[in-house]
Amino acid sequence: MEGNLDLYRDREQSFIKHQFLTRYLQAAAYKILQGHSPVFNFVDAFAGPWRVLDDAKYSDASFDQAINTLEAVRADLGKNGIAGLKIRFCFCEKRREAVARLREYAAAKGSFEIHVFEGAFEDNLDAIAAKLPDGFTFTFIDPTGWNIRNGEVFRFLRDQNGEFMLNFMSDHINRHARYDDVAASFGRFLANADWANEFALLPPDWSNEHKMLHLLKTAMRANKVATYLPDFSIMVPRKEHVKMRLLLGTHSSKGLEVFRDVQEKVEKQELEMRLNLRDGESPQVGLFSATDIAAIQLEQKGVGCKANRDRAEAIVVDFLRERTYAFPGPMFNIAMENVAIRRTHLNKLLMEMRDRKRIHFDLPARKRMPQADTAISLWDEGEATI
Ligand SMILES: C[S@@+](CC[C@H](N)C(=O)[O-])C[C@H]1O[C@@H](n2cnc3c(N)ncnc32)[C@H](O)[C@@H]1O
Repeated sequence: MEGNLDLYRDREQSFIKHQFLTRYLQAAAYKILQGHSPVFNFVDAFAGPWRVLDDAKYSDASFDQAINTLEAVRADLGKNGIAGLKIRFCFCEKRREAVARLREYAAAKGSFEIHVFEGAFEDNLDAIAAKLPDGFTFTFIDPTGWNIRNGEVFRFLRDQNGEFMLNFMSDHINRHARYDDVAASFGRFLANADWANEFALLPPDWSNEHKMLHLLKTAMRANKVATYLPDFSIMVPRKEHVKMRLLLGTHSSKGLEVFRDVQEKVEKQELEMRLNLRDGESPQVGLFSATDIAAIQLEQKGVGCKANRDRAEAIVVDFLRERTYAFPGPMFNIAMENVAIRRTHLNKLLMEMRDRKRIHFDLPARKRMPQADTAISLWDEGEATI
């Protein structure tokens, strides 16, 4: 999980992408292999290698990091008496030269079950599915733009019924969304030939990439590839705009929770990295270290910051307005999907809202946080009737 930032010069956003992927994968693998399935499949759909510096070991490529992360989980669980676990890998890549390198890599890793596929991911979906007869499948989709035939990819994801992480290339998409000559490729990306009409109806103050992300999530929901679709934005390293967003598709509220936990750790790393890069260019002798400044900035816009707590509060209030009472689970899921906030923040928020007499609930004896069956109601709409 440590990662070597020196291998990512001028593509530091990829370091953050790999940190997020491996931290999430690690947590997902522990969860799945301990309780749900003895088999974990990892599909690297746009595998590369791509712009790597470590040509010998590929330690700066997603496929090598995924292997190391998942094997470490399997070995650790094995040591703790959980035997018979299996991990499978499917790597797909379009460029012939990169496929040759993937094959060489796979041959050197003889103790792993690795399948390499040559050609477009969309043309290999059935062949990949045939290698995954059982187990839980996590698919990583990391294109360089938006040139994907998602209609076909969605069918694969729906059939696998696992989880996926898609790298949404915000920067590119934002710049191109209005050009007529890319209308057809956006239609394939959004699995919707009629996307331009829906795009035109979205709020004019939204950026192009915000509109595209909204349409993509709508298409994913319509195609039933995921129940929850949280996303995490990664900035252009030395600039103030979004480079890419990692979008998780999951059917599990636990997956949603882990996503926000990982986000809190990785955004801190990202901010410190950005401050160090900036300092490296024009060193400043200041009172505060990069870590101190990162902490201050995170309280302004990080996971669980004041603005995000306010957004989550609005979601809780809206949810309760339509109901006599509700349990925390469903409103927490809506809040965690739409806002960068963790479950612990939400529990604290409910306690604060109760102190402010915004909501009402009773806690069981000796409990200091709302429980799964705690009935919560809006204060001004009377006592919960249960
Ligand atoms: C951003 S790079 C992948 C980086 C890699 N996932 C990582 O993090 O180390 C995208 C790769 O996808 C390949 N590619 C492009 N279109 C593809 C397609 N339709 N199917 C599979 N691979 C494709 C490109 O050749 C390139 O190697």
